[in-house]
Amino acid sequence: MPKKSNRNAFRGYAAYVAGLRRLAMEPSDIHDWSVRVDDALNGQASAELRRVAPLLIRRKFGAFFTGTDLSARLIKRCIESYPTSVFYDPACGIGDLLVAAARALPLCKKLPETLQRWGKQLSGTDVHSEFVEGARTRLVLLARLRHNSDERLQKSIAGYFPNIRVADGLVQRRLFSRATHVLLNPPFGKAVAPAGCKWGTGRITEAATFIIEALERSKPGTEMLAILPEVLRSGSSKERWRNRVSQLAEVKRIEPYGIFDASADVHVFLLRLLRRETESLTDPKPWMRSKLKSNATVGSFFHVRVGRVVPHRDPKKGKWHPYIHPRIVPVWEEMVTFPQHRRHAGLAHPSPFVAIRRTSRPGDRFRATGTVVLCAKPVAVENHFIVCEPRDGSADTCRALMRRLQTQQVNEFLDMRIRCRHLTVGAVAAIPFKPQ
Ligand SMILES: C[S@@+](CC[C@H](N)C(=O)[O-])C[C@H]1O[C@@H](n2cnc3c(N)ncnc32)[C@H](O)[C@@H]1O
Repeated sequence: MPKKSNRNAFRGYAAYVAGLRRLAMEPSDIHDWSVRVDDALNGQASAELRRVAPLLIRRKFGAFFTGTDLSARLIKRCIESYPTSVFYDPACGIGDLLVAAARALPLCKKLPETLQRWGKQLSGTDVHSEFVEGARTRLVLLARLRHNSDERLQKSIAGYFPNIRVADGLVQRRLFSRATHVLLNPPFGKAVAPAGCKWGTGRITEAATFIIEALERSKPGTEMLAILPEVLRSGSSKERWRNRVSQLAEVKRIEPYGIFDASADVHVFLLRLLRRETESLTDPKPWMRSKLKSNATVGSFFHVRVGRVVPHRDPKKGKWHPYIHPRIVPVWEEMVTFPQHRRHAGLAHPSPFVAIRRTSRPGDRFRATGTVVLCAKPVAVENHFIVCEPRDGSADTCRALMRRLQTQQVNEFLDMRIRCRHLTVGAVAAIPFKPQ
């Protein structure tokens, strides 16, 4: 259960949830009732949370609710027929994913029967009581709106949804074992890896832990639909996590999405998994394959690494070197003069090499902007560059790479492969490439 300080974190939100409860009890012929319900089901809950809880608090507890469009998009990826499905969202927030699932569930003849049935099919947990209460209430609002009904409820709102409750989603067993579908937009904050974890060490994103815990607890055949931070799809350091997921589940769909929403400036992707009968022992397939038919990549012809100088951290000790950083390096050119020098005790790069700027966004004109560096002495390179040193030591191989980086094919490859702001060594090394 959450600690006391956690329980109080969203106290300011309780007034909004109380308003939702009143709305759920109002007769529907009151002026603009359905408009207000529509607002409550589409974005208002999230906007209200932003109003009462500072970003720091929302980040600390990973409280970012999924908008209507993204929730609907995720739910559409289900294959199972809905009438018998049982959905479980282990970190349900104010229920956006459950609301999206409920929009697709059939109605019974009468409102109380529908609620009774939805109560069996919809389950969720969250550590914050305000969210849990809000989630149940929004489901009642949706049912009333769809029925267009003022029928009296025969139970309390909580009584209709006994499986939506305040609890830690990471330790549930029964709710996972009865689910046919697990829906997840887990917290993206960092936490220490669970004891004995084989696929990650140190501080890792909670989203990674949520997925593995959920898969380990789900029964074979359970379908999992998740919204996850892009780094889990494309980060080279997340390979062990991806392999563990592939052992536990068939990876049915990986869909890059883009920025989660304007308030949470993080790239996400959608993942659809099917829990395996037994863990796979064969080598997992890589999650990302190039559409281009070439086995040769930048990594086949270059040593690829990140520049080693961290300017404000590294002491200015060691030998003097020509020094490059993004403000002084011309793009798409050959750099032969070096206006700046600094002492650097770590690795300096012998030229020729290609320096690629790491900052890069999907949709930029060029995802990987390069410069061929030609210098008689080894060069100290700031860590905002990825350095590609040709294995054959040839400046022509560097020029061929610079031409290749300017192509639309490379832009599309990188857009597909990595949607984070920073290019990774893994993504650059995987660019299909053959010197002409
Ligand atoms: C990113 S929000 C998503 C909420 C909801 N699934 C959605 O898509 O709108 C993550 C939620 O996880 C909750 N949470 C964090 N740790 C949790 C845990 N251990 N068990 C259950 N919920 C948790 C947070 O309170 C937050 O509401």
